[in-house]
Amino acid sequence: MDTVLVTGATGTIGTTLIPALRARGVAVRAMTRDPDRSVPGAETVVADLRGPEAVGAALKGVDAAFLNSPSAPDAASLQIRFADLARDAGVSRLVLLSQYAARADSPVRFLRWHAEVEAHVRSLGIEHTVLRPNLYLQALLAFAGTIAQGFFAAPIGEAAVSAIDTRDIADAAAAVLTGTGHAGRTYTLTGPRAVTHGQIAQALSTATGRNVTFRDTSADRFAAALNGLLPRWQIDGLIEDYAHYARGEAAEVHTAVADLTGKPARDVTDFARDHAADFLSV
Ligand SMILES: NC(=O)c1ccc[n+]([C@@H]2O[C@H](COP(=O)([O-])OP(=O)(O)OC[C@H]3O[C@@H](n4cnc5c(N)ncnc54)[C@H](OP(=O)(O)O)[C@@H]3O)[C@@H](O)[C@H]2O)c1
Repeated sequence: MDTVLVTGATGTIGTTLIPALRARGVAVRAMTRDPDRSVPGAETVVADLRGPEAVGAALKGVDAAFLNSPSAPDAASLQIRFADLARDAGVSRLVLLSQYAARADSPVRFLRWHAEVEAHVRSLGIEHTVLRPNLYLQALLAFAGTIAQGFFAAPIGEAAVSAIDTRDIADAAAAVLTGTGHAGRTYTLTGPRAVTHGQIAQALSTATGRNVTFRDTSADRFAAALNGLLPRWQIDGLIEDYAHYARGEAAEVHTAVADLTGKPARDVTDFARDHAADFLSV
C-alpha cells in the first residue's frame, strides 16, 4: 500500500495507528473535521463523515482506507456511505473497525449498528477486513476522576472481559492495512486474558501505588451518574454494553493480536503501568 486514509485520525486508535503505519513505510492521509488541525506525520485532509463531497475528495488517490468513527445514532448510515464512496473512488482495500460480538440481532444497539455496516461492506465487492475489538482498556481513562479518589463503579459484577489495549488495535490495523492474506477476514481482537473489574482495580492500585477499588453498581445508579454528561441514547447504549459484559458474553480470548503483530497482546498490568500518571494527576 502506498497511501492509507485514516478516519478518526485524532481519536483513540487513529493517533497510534498513524505512527504505526509510518513505521511500515506507508504514506498517511489523516482525516479530521478541524480545519485548524495539522496531524503530525501525515497529510491532513478536512472532512466530516456527514459531508460526502469532502469525504469523496479525501478518498481520491488513496490505496487503502481505515474506517472508524465514534458511536452516534446515525453512525451506521455514515459508515455505509463512506464505504460506498471508497468503492466509487477505486480504493482497493477497506479496513473496518467494528466491535466484539457484532450481530444483527444483538440486544446491544452498538453491536447491531456495527453488524449493519459489516454486512454492507461484505456486499460491496471491495477488498475488506473487519476488526472486532473488545472493551478498550483506555475507556477506563473516562473514570480517571473517581479513580484518583480511590474507586470506580460500573454495572458488571464479577464478570470477566478480555479487554484490549487500544495500542494493540492500532498495531493490528497497521498490519492488516499493509500486509497480505487478510482479504475477507474478520478478526476478533482481545487482550491476553479475561479480567474482572476487581482485577483491573488491583492492577491500577499496583501501578499507582494507591488503593483503587471497584464498586459494582446497578444500571439505574450508573445511568444516574452519567445523566447530563452524555446524551440519553449513549447512556442507554452503555447500559446495554455493560449488561452484555455482565452476562459473561465478552470473555473469550483470541490470538489475533499476536498472530497479526508478532507480539503478545498487552496485559492490563502493562496498560496500568503506562497510564499510571493519567490516574494520579486528575
Ligand atoms: N470504547 C470501547 O470500549 C469500544 C470497544 C469496541 C469498539 N469500539 C468502537 O470504537 C469506535 C470509536 O470509538 P471512540 O469513541 O473511541 O472514537 P475515537 O476513535 O476516539 O474517534 C473519535 C474521532 O472521530 C472523529 N470524528 C468524530 N465525529 C466525526 C464525524 N462526524 N466525521 C468524521 N470524523 C469524526 C474525531 O476527529 P476530529 O474531531 O478530528 O474530526 C475524533 O477524534 C466506535 O465505533 C465504537 O463502537 C469502542
